[in-house]
Amino acid sequence: MQRRKPLGKLRLGVNIDHVATLRNARGSAYPDPVRAAKLAETAGADGITAHLREDRRHIADDDIDRLMAALSVPLNFEMAATDEMQQIALRHKPHAVCIVPEKREERTTEGGLDVAREENRLARFIAPLRDAGCRVSLFVAADAAQIEAAARIGAAVVELHTGAYCDHHADGQFAERDAELSRLAEMSRLAHARGLEVHAGHGLTYDTVSPVAAFPEVMELNIGHFLIGESIFMGLKPAIREMRRFMDEARA
Ligand code: PXP
Repeated sequence: MQRRKPLGKLRLGVNIDHVATLRNARGSAYPDPVRAAKLAETAGADGITAHLREDRRHIADDDIDRLMAALSVPLNFEMAATDEMQQIALRHKPHAVCIVPEKREERTTEGGLDVAREENRLARFIAPLRDAGCRVSLFVAADAAQIEAAARIGAAVVELHTGAYCDHHADGQFAERDAELSRLAEMSRLAHARGLEVHAGHGLTYDTVSPVAAFPEVMELNIGHFLIGESIFMGLKPAIREMRRFMDEARA
């Protein structure tokens, strides 16, 4: 099959949540996620992602205030679909709002949003955010029903959950990994055909980023945990630059 041309430049959104995780482990003021975000900008991040969780386990309200004031690149504000988070988003009006499912007991965002089941509620929930000028993104599994529902309720973006693909790779389950990758490719095409901008993220590493970066419809990758971990060994800027290099090579 002939390789299709990418639809545009692939952006890298750097998620700085786990700088705050480290800070909060000691209840200190450092390391500061806003400092990491500014450093990420100079390393070529096209955007910064931060998830304000209901339990504030990493990013705090004050971090969002400071990110909004300090960033020169767009903030992608990740949040659950709750009234509290909607009010915070409407106060700040970040460039993008990414709606994710949130469970108190989970270690990280485990699955995608069930847009198909919650279609009416989510339609009502995102309307004021859209009216306020935020690009609304829905974090979903590579599943046609979710993508069709996201398009119906007028989301601008779907972010495809790459967690299952990355987990299968890490566990050496290569047949399952490749099946998930095919699903992600097919669902990127479907989302694009429905007029949605396609983003992807969760669990991506230097080993897993390239095939996803090569999907022509994918316009943005959001990557955090691996980059923050890698920065311990090589520094944040080189870690981000290396990710950028993998992405650019895959895209070329
Ligand atoms: N995209 C979304 C919607 C997420 O919830 C997360 C995790 O917070 C990421 C991307 C980044 O995942 P990771 O930290 O595993 O790179």
